[in-house]
Formats: sequence, structure tokens, C-alpha cells
Amino acid sequence: MPSLLFFIFFIIIGTMAWGCVLAAPWVPTLSAQRKLLVENLVIDDASTIYDLGCGSGSILFEFADRYPRARCIGYDVALLPLFLGYLVKFRHPVRYKNVSLRFGNFFTKHFSDADVVVAFLMQKAYPKFIATLKRELKPEAVVAIEAWPFPNVEPVQTIRGDRLVPWYIYHRSDI
Ligand SMILES: C[S@@+](CC[C@H](N)C(=O)[O-])C[C@H]1O[C@@H](n2cnc3c(N)ncnc32)[C@H](O)[C@@H]1O
Repeated sequence: MPSLLFFIFFIIIGTMAWGCVLAAPWVPTLSAQRKLLVENLVIDDASTIYDLGCGSGSILFEFADRYPRARCIGYDVALLPLFLGYLVKFRHPVRYKNVSLRFGNFFTKHFSDADVVVAFLMQKAYPKFIATLKRELKPEAVVAIEAWPFPNVEPVQTIRGDRLVPWYIYHRSDI
């Protein structure tokens, strides 16, 4: 039994450390910060939205509440936040039927169907992240980045809120 607990603990900590090494630790976006984005980003109501490094999927649940016709897809490598997201989906299977939370390293995934990509990552991951966006996204896709802007690119929109960090909005074609 102790070895099973140790194994579970190792998996939880190990996958969270993996996310940290790849692009960012799990730091959930505040509720007010999520609403700031969802209420100010103008998108088609049937958009396909990806959160790359989705944590527990809270941004996707926010989008799903506002846009019930959207497809909301998240990738994360950390099992604990994903598990918490699955609990939310499990409790609201109909309300969140359009939310899909997936285990996986988004650097190796395909998301060329994305209309909108959201991410909250460390700046050190940006060069690889930008290369991944260029590889995958159609030119008109919208990218929303939390807290730190991409270097040397002017955002098409900056969404600011009281005592919140900005959201920087880009078109893939400008990156
Ligand atoms: C700062 S958190 C943001 C979580 C969520 N997007 C939010 O805003 O609440 C970053 C997340 O990205 C995940 N992550 C980092 N690199 C990743 C990668 N290459 N593939 C999948 N997930 C990754 C981490 O595990 C972590 O949960």
C-alpha cells in the first residue's frame, strides 16, 4: 500500500514537473482574469478553441458557458489539474459536453482546426511555442496570450483589467 501511494504521488509530482520543464508550471488563471478574456475577445460562437497547457480547463469551461456551440479542447501533461477538470466535466456532462481535456504535450500535437488558441506560459518557452503556432495554425487564427507579450510583434488587441495582467491578442499571420 505505501508503495502504491508513493507511485501515485510520484506520478502527480512527476507530471507537474514535466509541464514546468516543457513550458510552465501549473498556475491557474484567476476567475476575473478568465472573464476578462471571454467577455472581451470577439469570436465566432461556433469557434474551435484550444487552451495549450490547459491545467484544469477552467478557461475552456468559461468559454463553453459563454459559447455553447464552440468546441473547446485542452492539452496538458500534468495529471492532477487534468483530473480536477475531469471532475468538473463529470459533474456537468451536458453543460460541458463540448469541452475535451486531453493528456499530451502540445508541442507534438496537431491543432490546425483551431480558430482560437489561448495560452499562459513562461517566456522562455515562447521561441518553441511560436514555431509550433506557425507550423499548425491557419493565418486567420487568433492567439490570446496571458501576461507576457510575444517579443517584436505588435498585438492586434491588448485587453486590460483592473489589477489583472493583460491579455495580448495576435493573428497567426502577424506572428
Ligand atoms: C500557467 S499553467 C496555465 C493553466 C491554464 N491554462 C490556466 O490558465 O488556468 C500552464 C500549464 O501548462 C502545462 N504545460 C506546460 N507545457 C506543456 C506542454 N508542452 N504540453 C502540455 N501542457 C503543458 C503545465 O502542466 C501547466 O498546467
